[in-house]
Order: sequence, then C-alpha cells, then structure tokens
Amino acid sequence: MMAQPIAASKEPEAATPALDVSGLSVEFPSRRGTLLAIDDVSMQIAPGEILGVVGESGAGKSITGLAVLGLLESPGRISGGAIHVGGRRVDTLSEKELTKVRGREMGAIFQDPLTALNPLFTVGKQLVETIRLHSGMSKEAANDRALALLQSVGIPAPRERLRQYPHQFSGGMRQRVVIALALAAGPRLIIADEPTTALDVSIQAQITALLRKLCDETGVGIMLVTHDMGVIAETADRVCVMYSGRVVESGPVAEVIHNPQHPYTKGLMAAIPSLHDRVETLAQIDGSMPRLNARPTGCAFHPRCPHAGPKCSAATPPLVSVGVTRSACWLQQGGTQ
Ligand SMILES: Nc1ncnc2c1ncn2[C@@H]1O[C@H](COP(=O)(O)OP(=O)(O)O)[C@@H](O)[C@H]1O
Ligand SMILES: [Mg+2]
Repeated sequence: MMAQPIAASKEPEAATPALDVSGLSVEFPSRRGTLLAIDDVSMQIAPGEILGVVGESGAGKSITGLAVLGLLESPGRISGGAIHVGGRRVDTLSEKELTKVRGREMGAIFQDPLTALNPLFTVGKQLVETIRLHSGMSKEAANDRALALLQSVGIPAPRERLRQYPHQFSGGMRQRVVIALALAAGPRLIIADEPTTALDVSIQAQITALLRKLCDETGVGIMLVTHDMGVIAETADRVCVMYSGRVVESGPVAEVIHNPQHPYTKGLMAAIPSLHDRVETLAQIDGSMPRLNARPTGCAFHPRCPHAGPKCSAATPPLVSVGVTRSACWLQQGGTQ
C-alpha cells in the first residue's frame, strides 16, 4: 500500500455517494426573460470514483460544478433540484454554513492555478493556513501535513518548495500545489474544471494521472469537467455527456466510448484520434452549441443530428436506460417519426 495519510479519516457509509445531484436546474434571470442554463440534471459520484463531465463549450459543465460548490454568480440561481455532498444537503445552506462545508468537504481545481493561489504568500503558508482552518491542527502538525501533501502530489524537494512563492513554480507544478490545497482538508468531493486545459500538452497526462492516483488513495470523489473526450477516456470511471444544459448520455466510460448511444456522443468520439478506427460514426458534427435564448425545441441537438425526425423537434426525449448506459434520444425510444 502506498496510501499516505493525506485524507482525514471520514468513514462514509458504504452507500453514501460523495456527490448526489438530483434534478438540478439553474437559471439566469434577465430583463428579457429567464434563461434556463441547467435543466433537470442528475448525477452521482461514489467515493473513490472519477466522473467525467464532457460536452462542447456552453454545454453547462462549469455552471453545474459552480452550483455544486455554491459559487454561482448572481443573478444565476438554483431553481430546482437538490445537491447532497457526502449525504449532506448543501444547496439549502446559508452562505455562512456553506463556506464552512465548502472548505472542509469540497475542493476545487480550476483551469488557471494562479486564481487559487495568493502571489504574496509562500506555498507553505497557504497550505498550513488552509489545513489549520479546517482541522484545528497545531502549526507543527499542519506543517508536517503540508509536507506530506506536497510529496503526495509529486513535487520534488518539498521541504524547500514550502518556502517558495507561487511564481517560482512552473505551470504544471503550480497546478500540483492547487491540487494539494484542494486536498488539504480531506474533502469528500473535488470539482476539477478543465484542470489541464491551460497546461503544456506534455504535462496534461501527468496531472490527470495524479488525480487518478489521489482518487484511488484517498477515496475522494472527483468531478472531472472537460471538453476533451480523450482526457475522460484515460482518467474517468464513468462519464456524463452534457448538451445545452441537459445530460444526454451517461454510463461507464468504456461502454460510452466503445458503444455510444446518443448521436451527440458519437460525434464527440470522432474527436479522439486514437479511437477513430474503433468507432463507426466518424463524421464531425457540424454546427455549434445553441445559445440559451435560442435553444431549439424538443431535443436541443436535433438541428445538428443526422438522424433527426419530426418527433425530435416536437418533444424532449427523457434519459432512459439502454443496457448499462442511459441515453436521451428518441432513436432508442420508439423512433423519431
Ligand atoms: N452569468 C451568466 N449569465 C447568462 N448566461 C450564462 C452565464 N454564465 C454562463 N451562462 C451560459 O450558461 C451556459 C452554460 O455555460 P457553462 O456552464 O460555462 O458551459 P461549459 O462550461 O460547458 O462550457 C452557456 O450558454 C453560457 O452562455
Ligand atoms: Mg466551462
């Protein structure tokens, strides 16, 4: 066992998911009417599991993550559904309670590591303060834990690194520091929103491999948000494909990749070069994600879909089980006529 004591020992009951989002809706009121950004989205993440959330830009991935973290910017608001983290409902908490729960139970990793780091303080100080804030550890104990955290995220010479400032780290090393910070309080859930997008291609795989390792070692659940199906294929256990604010397909990653059900998922697969010879439908999907104020009726994907029939513009297909996956397409539900 290489497990290091970097996660606080919180023993969730076996059945308690790290994250349970149920029927989530998020809206943006505006002078010209209310825009529905997230429409009836449900997803679960088990402890020790990575759920990939994938879809083109504008699909609603980041808004979903921000809603879970309680960080939606006004006027955006949750208009329906429930969010539980480690069995505790979080979407109804006051701002004050939420701040506490967010730091302790949830970690966040965003595209740009500099947004999460204070340029004026050493990495060690930032880690120690975060650890102490949520654990009440002594300075010495927190220092030891900070050192163990830097080690666990693969930063060489961690003792020296603790005394350095964020600008003294490379982009990849900085993102490792952010990952250490996200893990500092031993959270049940980490939201990682495009954590490798801003990094050198050569570093990207190292960071996703690190997330996988930490997930396995600590039992934290991870929501890995990305527009890149290749990253999901390499890292996630299960995947949730989003389109225009809804989940259009979800299931175990191998199944969704090798046997995609939804025409949109099939289109996304075409973008993974290494999979081209294994998937039959290879044509890239023309067109782009609709804007919220111009969402097509019925299935929002229908104007771009090669299989669309009259039913597709008339009614929104529900997400139903198709084998071990779930898909929201009339093709699997009696046809598109
Ligand atoms: N503050 C906002 N006001 C209005 N619409 C917004 C706001 N933030 C995001 N949106 C819209 O919500 C949708 C989902 O955005 P987002 O979750 O950021 O997409 P993704 O992360 O999948 O690229 C997009 O159509 C986006 O334009
Ligand atoms: Mg985004």
